[in-house]
Amino acid sequence: MHRPPPYGMAGDGRPPPYPYGGEYYPHERRRGGNVCIRCICCCYCVLFFIVLIVAAITLYLFTVYDPKAPIYKFEALDVKEFGYNDSNINADLILTLKADNPNKAIGFIYEEANTFNVTYSGSTISSGKFPSFHQGHKNMTMLQIELKGKNPFALGIYESLQDNERRGKVPLTILAKVPFKPVLGDSKLREMNILANVTISVHDLKLGKKTEIEQSKINYSLAK
Ligand SMILES: *[C@@H]1O[C@H](CO)[C@@H](O)[C@H](O)[C@H]1NC(C)=O
Ligand SMILES: *[C@@H]1O[C@H](CO)[C@@H](O)[C@H](O)[C@H]1NC(C)=O
Ligand SMILES: *[C@@H]1O[C@H](CO)[C@@H](O)[C@H](O)[C@H]1NC(C)=O
Ligand SMILES: *[C@@H]1O[C@H](CO)[C@@H](O)[C@H](O)[C@H]1NC(C)=O
Ligand SMILES: *[C@@H]1O[C@H](CO)[C@@H](O)[C@H](O)[C@H]1NC(C)=O
Repeated sequence: MHRPPPYGMAGDGRPPPYPYGGEYYPHERRRGGNVCIRCICCCYCVLFFIVLIVAAITLYLFTVYDPKAPIYKFEALDVKEFGYNDSNINADLILTLKADNPNKAIGFIYEEANTFNVTYSGSTISSGKFPSFHQGHKNMTMLQIELKGKNPFALGIYESLQDNERRGKVPLTILAKVPFKPVLGDSKLREMNILANVTISVHDLKLGKKTEIEQSKINYSLAK
């Protein structure tokens, strides 16, 4: 047992005003609890500052880079060759895509992609390559995507395509997987893929005719 040191004794030899020993041990126990509480407090403080710093950096990046999604619009369809019977379809098309990058500080590098398909009712009618290009800030580019194909055609699809041609409204689905990298300032970010599933509608598919496109549904998503 150690005794409390005799501090608190006044110079004139009188005892301290409080019974010191009675206060010493509870005080010591409270300090032991404080270490734990202080540790938790410290952790919370550090956590709070990390959250604050991450929030500040995010806010800074958002204000500096002000990210906006690029806008893609299929503008026209050139029919170079088109013919089908009840077993085959032969289509040679050129799609014009307007790619608009509204960002003032973010660019995009698109890699060449081989998976760019035009399908009708689930059957691929022609496929091609998405051209590789680097799109700078606040840039709008018209892309020509050449699509070719000789594909088998099922009987049911042949009849429904004939019906839709007669009605002047042919629904086509564009399925594409385009790899791209966002460029922030000078640094390229990790490559991602745009998965596009776009339904367009064309009036007809007459040879040598440039057809206007009605773009009804856009469905894009990003994937690794
Ligand atoms: C359909 O067209 C392909 C060529 O495009 C031809 O080889 C085939 O014989 C045709 N089939 C019929 C039933 O006419
Ligand atoms: C947009 O980017 C394309 C491809 O890099 C380039 O050819 C074109 O000149 C650019 N347009 C403008 C207005 O900067
Ligand atoms: C496009 O078609 C090819 C061959 O039919 C297929 O391998 C590819 O996965 C298709 N791409 C997409 C995005 O559907
Ligand atoms: C494309 O989207 C349509 C709905 O708009 C869906 O029915 C179809 O399964 C989708 N295709 C693919 C390959 O994701
Ligand atoms: C988008 O695509 C997903 C599957 O790829 C499908 O479930 C969803 O219905 C589509 N949305 C639209 C509006 O086409």
